[in-house]
Amino acid sequence: ALVSMRQLLDHAAEYSYGLPAFNVNNLEQMRAIMEAADKVDAPVIVQASAGARKYAGAPFLRHMILAAIEEFPHIPVVMHQDHGTSPDVCQRSIQLGFSSVMMDGSLKSDGKTPADYDYNVGVTRTVVNFAHACGVSVEGEIGCLGSLETGMAGEEDGVGAEGVLDHSQLLTDPEEAARFVKDTGVDALAIAIGTSHGAYKFSKKPTGDVLRIDRIKEIHARIPNTHLVMHGSSSVPQEWLQIINQYGGDLGETYGVPVEEIVEGIKHGVRKVNIDTDLRLASTGAIRQFMAKNPAEFDPRKYLAKTIEAMRDICIARYEAFGSAGQA
Ligand code: G3H
Ligand code: 13P
Ligand code: NA
Ligand code: ZN
Repeated sequence: ALVSMRQLLDHAAEYSYGLPAFNVNNLEQMRAIMEAADKVDAPVIVQASAGARKYAGAPFLRHMILAAIEEFPHIPVVMHQDHGTSPDVCQRSIQLGFSSVMMDGSLKSDGKTPADYDYNVGVTRTVVNFAHACGVSVEGEIGCLGSLETGMAGEEDGVGAEGVLDHSQLLTDPEEAARFVKDTGVDALAIAIGTSHGAYKFSKKPTGDVLRIDRIKEIHARIPNTHLVMHGSSSVPQEWLQIINQYGGDLGETYGVPVEEIVEGIKHGVRKVNIDTDLRLASTGAIRQFMAKNPAEFDPRKYLAKTIEAMRDICIARYEAFGSAGQA
């Protein structure tokens, strides 16, 4: 059944677990997520970005998610719009039937320029007003996602600030977060605590302290009833990087957020964990490997089936690690 995000996150908070929110762009990702959730009995959050709408088209995305709900009626599914850049974008998604929207007012409507507090409150409050009137949940963001190593947003052409940010922008301030929640009434709040979007998060192997857990604790202590959201939460599996490079790919050395650190965040109020890059890496690795080993094969279903399997295994691992397995 289609449910609001608030419903799932309230349950997750009550039972102290976290929910992965996977980005979807195509049938294979959708199937991988649903088959994984079905296998381990987990509730589902699927999210569509502006890039996903551009690639698949909003009606295709919508009907794909509705098809998932039809095929797996026993699994609660949130249809979430990721990184809305304006109230108009969010309104259109609500009209399309999304049960949850993100208004990312940490950036201006170009999705690149860091916005000030008043702008962020203005657009987010507007979305909360019309979304709540329709029973739709709202995620806001305070602080800009980006690398604490370099100050860069992390993605060349994806979501993220342009230029170099300083530490005061890259780490969410607990007092400002509390004020923002009071001023806007958001259901969930994305915070900046050391993660960035994309595959290039950390240049050195993490030694157990990539997330600012101290900051998560301070924010959670200040707003214990707000569900915290971690963007840029891919773990960048080294085994998939290696497979990609072994079969003709060319990805540089890079590391993601260790799953154990995400689990630590979940102990301190993180309820929604956004993952896109890991599924991209797994499906690319699966295709490269299949193509290299089966040069005479030309039925796309053969290699696309491998991508479903590869992505499904990652989804299962995250549902289990975050404690959402068994909660559907
Ligand atoms: O937040 C960013 C997500 O990874 C979506 O990326 O805009 O390339 O679809 P995208
Ligand atoms: P990753 O790039 O780490 O997968 O993050 C995805 C995300 O935050 C989508 O909003
Ligand atoms: Na989101
Ligand atoms: Zn994001």
